[in-house]
Amino acid sequence: MKVLLLGGGGREHALGWKLIQSPLLDRLISCPGNPGLATIGDVVDDVDPTDPEAIVHLCGAHGIDLVVVGPEAPLAAGVADALEASRIPVFGPTRAGARLESSKSFAKEIMASAGIPTAGSATFADRDAAVIHLERSSGPYVVKADGLAAGKGVLVTESLESAIDWVDDCLGGKFGDAGSSIVLEDYLSGPEVSLFYVCADGDAIPLQPARDYKRLLDGDEGPNTGGMGSFSPLEDIDDTLVDWTTTHVALPTLRELAARGIDYTGFLYIGLILTSDGPKVLEFNCRLGDPETEVLMPRMTSDLLAVLEAGASGGIADFDFSWSDRYAVNVVLAAPGYPDSPQAGLAITGIESFSDVHIFHAATRESDTGVETSGGRVLNIVGLGDTLSQARERAYGAAHQIDFEGKHFRTDIAEE
Ligand code: GLY
Repeated sequence: MKVLLLGGGGREHALGWKLIQSPLLDRLISCPGNPGLATIGDVVDDVDPTDPEAIVHLCGAHGIDLVVVGPEAPLAAGVADALEASRIPVFGPTRAGARLESSKSFAKEIMASAGIPTAGSATFADRDAAVIHLERSSGPYVVKADGLAAGKGVLVTESLESAIDWVDDCLGGKFGDAGSSIVLEDYLSGPEVSLFYVCADGDAIPLQPARDYKRLLDGDEGPNTGGMGSFSPLEDIDDTLVDWTTTHVALPTLRELAARGIDYTGFLYIGLILTSDGPKVLEFNCRLGDPETEVLMPRMTSDLLAVLEAGASGGIADFDFSWSDRYAVNVVLAAPGYPDSPQAGLAITGIESFSDVHIFHAATRESDTGVETSGGRVLNIVGLGDTLSQARERAYGAAHQIDFEGKHFRTDIAEE
């Protein structure tokens, strides 16, 4: 099978690494890919992965049998719709399904209609109405840009003044159209869990849970980022929570979408928070998590490609993923200036083979002298071990040895 993988971050490198292990795979092409993906397959970096027509054309030119979509942007742009219209199998939802992520207010509407537990919320496009709502609330305040903002459109703050500033930033264009309306949510507290499903034909098959670290600095301080690290499995979570989420969140969501004429095929990411009042949904995404995928792929022992191919053509009902018992810990190496203005063009040294460590490229590029930074989250360093602390030691051992000027990483990922 010839597979086109859309995306070029750490999640896609981890997905590509997993896909090439399938006996079903003949050729992997990534678009736009990255230097890590270029070591395990072909890369097409002169086609825009969010351009539906260009992707359909690329598939025709290479005889692609299956398209796997990593990030949300191509889905929100309608790439899956165009592929479906051209009868090219694709694993990823249509633009209508991707609204679960591209519109937080739509996700809230689906949750409300399906009776899914989540934080109370209200959506505003009007600044004064939003400010009145905030002034009538008690903190902490949660302000979210309604649209896609690469994980950076959310502010959680104790300060009313900062919350109002964030409203002004969003409505004032900091996130472009994504912030032209905002969602104000009730604050919830508790441990967070990321759960993922492979969905097709009304079925939802769970992957194992993972936990990510969204804040930039140790101790969950600093601004929200795309994610600074992750680990799996989680010792405080058992199958009961996964079963509960399948029954009370994933399947009702698919049914609610189906009732609206949306047949959802693709990954579904459910961000849960375990409150004293029970689990509640924080967010939906129409893709796998990043940096969670980087710890899940090395632990998955099933043939992912076989499942995605079956999903793209309908039938996954009897499938069950199998997993290794090993632990995986991912430490993200970020560029100086991340998340606001990451510095590109910094030479990276020390990327070599470490025992029981996977290095998944994210924001890297080739230069005349080697690999250099090209954005904020540069590399994912994933340590594997028989215990969480062993996996952690391996990840941090390599994270210290790989270097670039101004390298930054959290030191408390998977700390027990
Ligand atoms: N790990 C957060 C995200 O993928 O959005």
